[in-house]
Amino acid sequence: MAKKRIRSAQAFRGVLTLPGDKSISHRSAILAALAEGKSEIFNYSPAADCESTLLCLRGLGVNIEEKGSSVIVEGKGLTGWAKPRKALDAGNSGTTMRLLAGALAGQKFPAELTGDNSLRRRPMRRVMEPLRQMGAKIEAREDEFAPLKLEGSALRAIEYAPKVASAQVKSAVLLAGLFAEGETVVHEPVHTRDHTELALREMGAAITRKDGAVRLEGRPKLKARQVIVPGDLSAATFFLAATLIVPDSELILQGVGLNPTRTAVLDFLASMGAPLSVVALGTRDGELTGDINVHHAAIKGGKISGALTARLIDELPMLAALAPYTEEGIEIRDAKELRVKESDRIAAMAENLRKMCAEVEEFPDGMRVGGRAAGRLRGATIDPHDDHRIAMAFAIAALGAEGETVIRNPHCVAISFPNFFELLESLLKPQSE
Ligand code: S3P
Repeated sequence: MAKKRIRSAQAFRGVLTLPGDKSISHRSAILAALAEGKSEIFNYSPAADCESTLLCLRGLGVNIEEKGSSVIVEGKGLTGWAKPRKALDAGNSGTTMRLLAGALAGQKFPAELTGDNSLRRRPMRRVMEPLRQMGAKIEAREDEFAPLKLEGSALRAIEYAPKVASAQVKSAVLLAGLFAEGETVVHEPVHTRDHTELALREMGAAITRKDGAVRLEGRPKLKARQVIVPGDLSAATFFLAATLIVPDSELILQGVGLNPTRTAVLDFLASMGAPLSVVALGTRDGELTGDINVHHAAIKGGKISGALTARLIDELPMLAALAPYTEEGIEIRDAKELRVKESDRIAAMAENLRKMCAEVEEFPDGMRVGGRAAGRLRGATIDPHDDHRIAMAFAIAALGAEGETVIRNPHCVAISFPNFFELLESLLKPQSE
């Protein structure tokens, strides 16, 4: 798939079950590998990132069998992982690297974590700092970037307040806290996704949250379990946006993860006037799951800043590319973190939106993208900068643009959503039909 060509569509309709949530899949696999006994994870995400997690766990001597979309992990207990024979390759996956840094810090053997060109440029001191406070020995290139070399040491419990709102940092500290005696506490500036906490609780750890502080009692025995991963709401966002861009559209998404730390995107879309209805079906394996129904309507636009930015951080590329289809446009602020994701997402969005003739003002911490009054988007050749969410955001923006849009390097979507284009095409009715 050298390039993907996309034209405007007449309708986007269907009923869909999405692949498993990426964040929950990473955690289910890592925690299953630290548990005692065999775990079975159903609807494990097909994302290349989640495959990177399995690859690293295998490198640590964990037996993992993949059967269709299920993964069976033979847990080794907290201290049963083996010294890896070579560097563990997290590929493009920040979650794999940061969470495993936490889980490896308290082991009795050394290990090295590396990744692809993008991951080796992403900031790691945010996890090194608290882990070092716990007693971990970690070296990094320029004391910031992967490869990370961990020696494996005895850890002590700490109380930590991360400077950035990051579920990955919180999770790294909690995973290291499993190896420390006593209570590890993380004070979060924003309530970030709490899948690690929910899974740990399900597996028998003593973990609580009160007034923004997460407390974990160290050295638990984690129980193996069977878990069904809910559909990925961040992946769903692309199709929700398609419904709002393409006239005569309606979509039903079944079995989607509705964890309240992830649903800010639904609240924001609803605040702009998107006719969404959400039916929460209940809690399964600690995670709230349900169905979402949406149909096409004109939407207003709005502003995303402060805690809201952190709570829909992965959805910002799609929201920026949806902005030209709103009445007043969308402004995104307090989003400096976007510059250190898989690409500099602010720069990549601004560059490609301008190519499509959108009205864009770029700020150090965000952007403002004009709405309908700035004119209809025009097809262009999009460079996704090897970033899955940029490629998908523009594939969707193209559905309402004049003329043809070409997405270069479209296979980068496999990082989170390998069958994105297949599903997209199955729901589309092209303009020419
Ligand atoms: C993730 C947390 C977020 C998010 C990433 C997945 C996770 O990163 O952007 O795609 O699974 O914990 P930060 O924690 O760095 O904000």
